Amino acid sequence: MDPISEIKSRISIEELVAQYIPLKKAGRHFKALCPFHQERTPSFYVSPERQLAYCFGCHKGGDHFKFIEEIEGLDFRGALKFLAEKAGVTLPKTLPDEQKRKSERDRLIEIHEQAAKFFEEQLWDTPDGEKVAKYLKKRGLKEKTIKNAQLGFAPESGDKLYTFLLERGFTRGEILTAGLAIARDTEQGNCIDRFRMRLMFPIRNLAGAICAFGGRAVRDGDEPKYLNSPETPIYHKSSVLYGLSEARAEIRQKKSVVIVEGYMDALAAHQAGFQNVVACSGTALTTDQLAILKRFTQNLFLAFDRDTAGKLATNRSIELAFAAEFSLRVVVWKSDAKDPDECLRKDPDEFAKAIEEAKPATEYLLESCAENFDSGAAEGKRKIIEELLPFFAQIKSAVELDVWLKQCASNLGISLSALYDELKRFQGKQKFLGQPVSKITIKPELSFSTETGSFIRHQEYILGLLLTYPELTSVAFQLLKPEDFDDIELQNIYRSLSTEYNQNLGERANLLAMYAETFAADMTFDAVQEELKSIINALKHLKLDREKRSLVERLQNAPAKEKQSLLEEYQALLLNENNIL
Ligand code: UTP
Ligand code: MN
Repeated sequence: MDPISEIKSRISIEELVAQYIPLKKAGRHFKALCPFHQERTPSFYVSPERQLAYCFGCHKGGDHFKFIEEIEGLDFRGALKFLAEKAGVTLPKTLPDEQKRKSERDRLIEIHEQAAKFFEEQLWDTPDGEKVAKYLKKRGLKEKTIKNAQLGFAPESGDKLYTFLLERGFTRGEILTAGLAIARDTEQGNCIDRFRMRLMFPIRNLAGAICAFGGRAVRDGDEPKYLNSPETPIYHKSSVLYGLSEARAEIRQKKSVVIVEGYMDALAAHQAGFQNVVACSGTALTTDQLAILKRFTQNLFLAFDRDTAGKLATNRSIELAFAAEFSLRVVVWKSDAKDPDECLRKDPDEFAKAIEEAKPATEYLLESCAENFDSGAAEGKRKIIEELLPFFAQIKSAVELDVWLKQCASNLGISLSALYDELKRFQGKQKFLGQPVSKITIKPELSFSTETGSFIRHQEYILGLLLTYPELTSVAFQLLKPEDFDDIELQNIYRSLSTEYNQNLGERANLLAMYAETFAADMTFDAVQEELKSIINALKHLKLDREKRSLVERLQNAPAKEKQSLLEEYQALLLNENNIL
């Protein structure tokens, strides 16, 4: 046995943790006040089954080693020595496992580099691939840009890449861990390529090595539009920014970074000479991505798509970037281009101008609220303030907050003290809601006060329940499609519930399961089943509300002749609502 497993087998996690803090039994788990942050009600859980110790409040902890690293302030090597001594395990002079960890990562990078070569060959040297290359050129990418970015093509056939990689000496396990193939059953062999009939975007880590792929559908009707690599030991979606390794020098030099949504947006921008552009790959920026950007610059430009999703992502990103104390501007598109890619194709000068004229985030928020509500009437003012409070609440600098509140108060014609009162009330309510009500808070970046946050929390809770009670998977499959999950990583976990038999779902899934267990521990199976159904229902209502709101927004802006059909759509939604329960 390797030293790591040896240590884990000699000391149980509950025994280890109990040496630091008193543990209380709670169903299948132990509970404690978290040793890593101040709290009154326990959110630190120890799972004897999963051998994990984790705080759902501050998100610290993990296995034996993570716990010791954190509590003793050691790095991995230090924790290994510390635990080896405790467990009476002698460590070999060169630590094979540390080396193994390193070389596993190296192998995974290598496998991605090889796969990228394979995809490139397919793009340039096969009939289907040539069509895709033509499509890329039609969309305005030059051959040089395509080759620089190493874009490629994944062919339609079932296991071409898998076979190619086996021939190059990679094992089935490595290919599965890399997420490039999917096992169809537990038997040896019988794997299919994850990416089939897709345009492939290699995704690089900060050091410039390929660590994952994004694959765009090229045939009408193929879903999802983008299929991405799953979480792997070398790829954590929430902390990667597409194009950053190419953009980092320019970001430092220009002292600013422009965030776009899509791979195509980033490539088009780089091609047009805007080198300080990176893509957050859909939806909003995450706190992890912000932490990485902080190393390079404090100045952020948000240049998301013009559609409703882009606006939602903008708002969500503003909230997070405020909390992370960035100086923030929002690009407002003047022309009718739907995203930066389209704008750049029409006129690169316009893109440059839009960046130059980007609005400070506070100004942007005030204006976009004023557009949506009638700031003349008391009711409208109240709504505007309600919209703005979550953003106010994130601002850490008292000076900045004061400046902004003053501006807001004068715009709306209300007193500054009234605004401060509202903010205090809001913060009080947040605190009150904080612990017991929002029990579905897994990762800090997912716990928003906005609507989008509760989507994710419901979705995470559903997955947690399913991972704990696989028997309920079929119930869920009848009610929810993978596309009902907003986050690609969650979609992947949901899909893998049916497709991956050799479940190695990674840490996020493990924590989701542990989290659900902490709530479901005292429930009967029937109660869990009811809980699952009701949370799916709640999610559907949330989604419907979101659709309703976006329809109302469209109705307000629609020309008269389109109103009728939008109204019909709205009626259909209402009917749908009755069906949900
Ligand atoms: P878009 O749908 O705006 O795509 O998603 P795009 O990049 O503009 O692509 P084109 O121009 O239609 O070809 C923006 C980004 O969101 C992520 C991808 O990273 C994409 O580039 N995304 C989108 C997904 O991860 N999955 C999806 O299903 C859709
Ligand atoms: Mn787009």
